Amino acid sequence: MTIRFAVLGAGRIGQVHARAISSVPGAELVAIAESFEKAADAAREAFGCEIRDLDTIAGSDDIDAVVICTPTDTHADLIEKFVKAGKKVFCEKPVDLDVDRVKAALATVEAENGTLMVGFNRRFDPDFMALKAALDSGKVGEVEMISITSRDPGAPPAAYIKVSGGIFRDMTIHDFDVARWLLGEEVETVYAAASVLTDPEIGTLGDYDSATVVLRTKSGKQCTISNSRRATYGYDQRIEVLGSKGLVQARNMHEANIETANEGGYTSPPLLNFFMTRYTAAYANEIAAFCAAIREGTATPTTGEDGLKALELAEAALRSAQTGTVVTL
Ligand SMILES: NC(=O)c1ccc[n+]([C@@H]2O[C@H](COP(=O)([O-])OP(=O)(O)OC[C@H]3O[C@@H](n4cnc5c(N)ncnc54)[C@H](O)[C@@H]3O)[C@@H](O)[C@H]2O)c1
Repeated sequence: MTIRFAVLGAGRIGQVHARAISSVPGAELVAIAESFEKAADAAREAFGCEIRDLDTIAGSDDIDAVVICTPTDTHADLIEKFVKAGKKVFCEKPVDLDVDRVKAALATVEAENGTLMVGFNRRFDPDFMALKAALDSGKVGEVEMISITSRDPGAPPAAYIKVSGGIFRDMTIHDFDVARWLLGEEVETVYAAASVLTDPEIGTLGDYDSATVVLRTKSGKQCTISNSRRATYGYDQRIEVLGSKGLVQARNMHEANIETANEGGYTSPPLLNFFMTRYTAAYANEIAAFCAAIREGTATPTTGEDGLKALELAEAALRSAQTGTVVTL
């Protein structure tokens, strides 16, 4: 059974998802909703699909599922609208910026017996999946300490930052989800330090651009997250897990994974520059997993509850950064 999709919002991530859908067997891109005319024309041209407005998509019999890629402040309303319209919903992170609003949206999904998958693409990255499989196989024993490095090559535009909810809800939220996934236990305490080091404009918008977070579970497992909105050398995405019997790590992906040595020293090609290229396989895998869950009638591998838990960690981190104290969940 082919799952017929509409993508809502054809900005940075909407185009990535439209491409991912087009690449997944058993998935078909039928329509895109995009309110900015120039972007809508470009999407029609790039993907050869129809442009429809949100109400038309909600009422379209030839669409089974929607992928919400509009700005964050629209997500909760759109989840409710499309679940009520009987569509399977995949929503980009975060579900909303407010924990109570997320809970209300999840209650609507439950009341409608709907399907909601939240876009935590890193769980579907082949290298991170292999790292998780190595942990689950027991090769490195019990997980004890995790280091996640997640640095963007550059900050998004001011207009995006204004509605993003800030670095913890917008960016670190991916790392909170990866931390929960790899720790295998819920986090009990959060400590965060955050500053503006790369661009004063980010500070004037009330946000931070550089953050360090320390998470600790009840049994004492720890995870450190290092975030920056500026990495001059590309998209820096690494994970290292120390276990009781060893260590497993996922390194950065380069344009080609080669290393050249000569009298000038060792050099490698540049890193893949940002999420659009670094996580191409992950975005396709997550759409494939969403389709499989729809076809088989099983739970989606990432859920609204995962979205809620990650947001709770983001709120705790923000409180910790603002007060300088450790926050207990
Ligand atoms: N998982 C990831 O890796 C990832 C990466 C980037 C962004 N995101 C998330 O995706 C969301 C969008 O981010 P982005 O960077 O693509 O933003 P963006 O601003 O580039 O794109 C949003 C698009 O939605 C359109 N839009 C706004 N309201 C609309 C409406 N009512 N109907 C139709 N179209 C509408 C805008 O015109 C714009 O083209 C954010 O919530 C962000 O957190 C996730």
